[in-house]
Amino acid sequence: MNKKITVLAGDGIGHEVTSWGVKILEQIADNFGHQFSFQNALLGHSAIEATGNPLPDETLEKCLEADAILLGAVGHPKYDNDPSLKVRPEQGLLKLRKSLGLYTNIRPIEIFDELADASSLKKELISGVDILFFRELTGGIYFGERNRTEDIATDSMTYSKMEVERIARRAFEAAMTRRKVVHSIDKANVLDSSRLWRATVNKIAKEYPAVEVIHMYIDNAAMQLIRYPKQFDVVLTGNMFGDILTDEASQIAGSLGMLASASIGDKVGLYEPIHGSAPDIAGQNIANPMATILSTALMLDIAFGLKEESRTVVAAVVAVLKKGYRTQDIKDEQTDIDKILQTDQIGQLILDEIKAMKSVFS
Ligand code: IPM
Ligand code: MG
Repeated sequence: MNKKITVLAGDGIGHEVTSWGVKILEQIADNFGHQFSFQNALLGHSAIEATGNPLPDETLEKCLEADAILLGAVGHPKYDNDPSLKVRPEQGLLKLRKSLGLYTNIRPIEIFDELADASSLKKELISGVDILFFRELTGGIYFGERNRTEDIATDSMTYSKMEVERIARRAFEAAMTRRKVVHSIDKANVLDSSRLWRATVNKIAKEYPAVEVIHMYIDNAAMQLIRYPKQFDVVLTGNMFGDILTDEASQIAGSLGMLASASIGDKVGLYEPIHGSAPDIAGQNIANPMATILSTALMLDIAFGLKEESRTVVAAVVAVLKKGYRTQDIKDEQTDIDKILQTDQIGQLILDEIKAMKSVFS
């Protein structure tokens, strides 16, 4: 299979982790006889520095002509405490999501048993958790009208029926292949946009009579997620509620450094770790590349339909964890100090596992 992948390393630890994503994909291509070609493009702070624009036209073009996009992370501390800066790295990512119509953000929360002790939650509470978040990604308060005067600022949360219908369908389709329950998260006791969300989800639910719908307010959902995460299977949320809940849910899995995501629409899809650019550890070779590597597994499966290749990547990550190797963010009291590795070391071990599997199959 021939595939073209555009790599947007972005900012901070982005390059450190995407370089491993690329190496893993190259090894998979070698194992299974595929041809993957890669091209790089700028996004975020690095793009602002080079061109003044967080999403240069050239980047968008390179994304549109690709079969899949691998993204690291965007963001830089320089913008955090300076609200006067009008051009910001995150605008590049948001514009990219919008331009590519990536309205469905899929974030799986799966527990690697090996990491049960790395979570701040009790082992018995989290073992066996398997949640699939469907976060709406191109609407809601992220893209509503904004207004700012000296004393007043407004961000509006807008949803149309169409926007809710299409993401809801994706969530229900997934639920049909799983536990047949969808938790739809909103704040319908306060917000009109949530009341429209709820009514629309109920309408779509009629097309899937086998699936149970449970509506939950966002504040309750945030609490239930750590009280008893196993009650959730498919979770359907708007843009901002999903942003918040998935960061929270990352702690169930032990670390943000483990969570992959896929953003899909009707054109090319984008695959990225859910963590940020982590400027505090950038350039130190200590970031966890596993979320990015697991994002390539999602790419292989969802974008290219390469299920066995995808499983191979996940199996390699699991094998390395089983041997006790960890990055800083997922170590626990039992971790052998010699097994706490740097980005490049753990990336290499995962790569070696995939290489070793080649001889098994060929
Ligand atoms: C995410 C991130 C982004 C978001 C930021 C970087 C704009 O937090 O992908 O979850 O809020 O969507
Ligand atoms: Mg986020």
